[in-house]
Parts: sequence; C-alpha cells; structure tokens
Amino acid sequence: MIIVQASSRHGNTPKVAKRIASVLDCWVLDLKDFHPEDFKKEDIIGFSSGVYLGRVDSKLEEMIKSLPRCEKKVFLITTSGIPIKLLNNAHKRIKKIFEEKGWEVIGEFNCPGYDDIGPTKLIGGIRKGRPSEEDLHKAAQFAEKLKSDYRI
Ligand SMILES: Cc1cc2nc3c(=O)[nH]c(=O)nc-3n(C[C@H](O)[C@H](O)[C@H](O)COP(=O)(O)O)c2cc1C
Repeated sequence: MIIVQASSRHGNTPKVAKRIASVLDCWVLDLKDFHPEDFKKEDIIGFSSGVYLGRVDSKLEEMIKSLPRCEKKVFLITTSGIPIKLLNNAHKRIKKIFEEKGWEVIGEFNCPGYDDIGPTKLIGGIRKGRPSEEDLHKAAQFAEKLKSDYRI
C-alpha cells in the first residue's frame, strides 16, 4: 500500500497523510516521484491533497485520470479551509473519476487546514493550528477503521 501526496502549500495535508501512513504502516510518496509502475504493484492506494479552488491538486487529478481501469481499492485524504461537508465538490469530482475506472473507494478523510488564501490573509488566515493534534487523532482513527475493515 502507498499514499500518493500532491504538492502542498502549507504542509497541512502531508501531516495528515503521514499520520495515516504510520497506522497503516505504508509509505507516503510525493506525486513527483510516483511512476505508473508503482500503481501496478499496489492493491490499495491513498491519494492525498489540499483543496484548491474546489478541487484536488490539478497534477494529482491529471495523474489519476491517466491511470488504467482495473480493480483497485483507493482512499482519499484532503485538508481544506472550508469543511468538505459544506463544500463537497472536490471529493465528489474525484470519486466520480475513481468510480469510472472501476476502483472501489474504501474511505474518505477530510479535516481543516490552515488557509491564508485571498482576503483571509488580512486577518492572518483561518483554521490556524489545523490540522491540530485532535485532527491527527481522528486521522489515525480513520486509518484504524480501514485497517480492521480491510484486514490491512
Ligand atoms: C490557491 C488556494 C486555493 C484554495 N482553495 C480552497 C477552496 O476552494 N476551498 C477550501 O476549502 N479551501 C481552499 N484553500 C485552502 C486549502 O485547502 C488549505 O489551506 C489546505 O489545508 C492546504 O493544504 P496543503 O497545506 O497541504 O497544501 C485554498 C488554498 C490555496 C493556497
């Protein structure tokens, strides 16, 4: 199993990905180091990205679109300024691509990430200190559930 991490603006999403990887005992691979050969070897793959303008990282999305149809299990990790439950398009969009490829989405995790985009910079940004230790604890719980549900 691997987690593929897109490039990160503030280091928010890699923190979460690393916590999840530590529970699942797997690697976090930077998107720039990912080769399609790596994909073939794995049965379960995590994709991890911040949310930018309502989408996951564009290079990550491009790479996902380029991968073949096959039977894989995947999970999605994101951090965002606005909770994904309120702004659901980033997950919906990427899940649609996964499903079109016949990949089974076995989990989704989102938590807040420090954000200083646009006018929020004037007030020093929003979601300061996030992901927090509590967010990382929830990430670990998410990973524990994957582990027990899929006997990882
Ligand atoms: C260019 C840019 C666009 C963003 N757009 C959104 C957005 O549409 N919705 C949202 O909730 N957060 C948005 N954010 C906030 C990020 O999702 C948040 O800071 C996230 O934790 C970044 O993760 P990272 O540090 O791993 O890059 C944006 C941040 C940047 C830098």
